[in-house]
Amino acid sequence: MLDIKTSSYVAEGKHRACYIHPHNESLCVKVLLPSKTGGSQEEANRETKYYRFLEKKNVPWTMLPKFHGEVITNLGKGYVFDLVRDYDGNISRNLTHYLSNQQLTQNHAQALSVAFDLLNQYLLQWKIITLNIQARNLVFKQTSSDEGRLVIVDDVGNPELIPICNYIDFMATMKIKRKWQRFVSLLLKAYPDNKFLKSKFSVKN
Ligand SMILES: Nc1ncnc2c1ncn2[C@@H]1O[C@H](COP(=O)(O)OP(=O)(O)OP(=O)(O)O)[C@@H](O)[C@H]1O
Ligand SMILES: [Mg+2]
Repeated sequence: MLDIKTSSYVAEGKHRACYIHPHNESLCVKVLLPSKTGGSQEEANRETKYYRFLEKKNVPWTMLPKFHGEVITNLGKGYVFDLVRDYDGNISRNLTHYLSNQQLTQNHAQALSVAFDLLNQYLLQWKIITLNIQARNLVFKQTSSDEGRLVIVDDVGNPELIPICNYIDFMATMKIKRKWQRFVSLLLKAYPDNKFLKSKFSVKN
């Protein structure tokens, strides 16, 4: 059993908490929050299944953290992934962190702009299906002081009962384009004063 120390806590969302792996600083372990069971477990199973599917397709783990399997921990069942870190070793922060701070966004505007485009290309090239893309589920990995990538840490996979998009490329492409449009419009709504987003996605003032 893996003994996770509370001091290795990284962050949490609505369902899971993320900890640094006790034996490997480049991995993280995600465990369900104590109050969450049922639906969250189904979500986890869907994610695991979809990751297996991506492994078979040989998807490069550049904008998705690699999945390293399940482990039993003192905090319940855990899921091991690459822990996304910046070039200086700091754990990468999510996009919400960057977009909520006008100055921080401006400091990384050029890198963020390229990172948005790279992520869109990556999803389309590898036909990666996601649930709705949300800022809190993307981390911005600074690869140097002025370059970076957006990595999707949550909500990948196809929740459909018959996941036809997994097998028919043009349907996947359409779905990915729709998800991207929705992502952009939600960002513009969530951060109406963010100058970077306005100019990137060309909204007139
Ligand atoms: N592989 C990772 N590397 C670095 N940070 C991560 C990683 N995975 C998650 N995080 C951080 O932990 C936070 C919560 O993780 P995650 O989104 O997996 O939890 P969740 O409860 O499933 O989220 P949600 O509320 O969207 O359902 C993220 O917003 C991110 O800041
Ligand atoms: Mg999340």
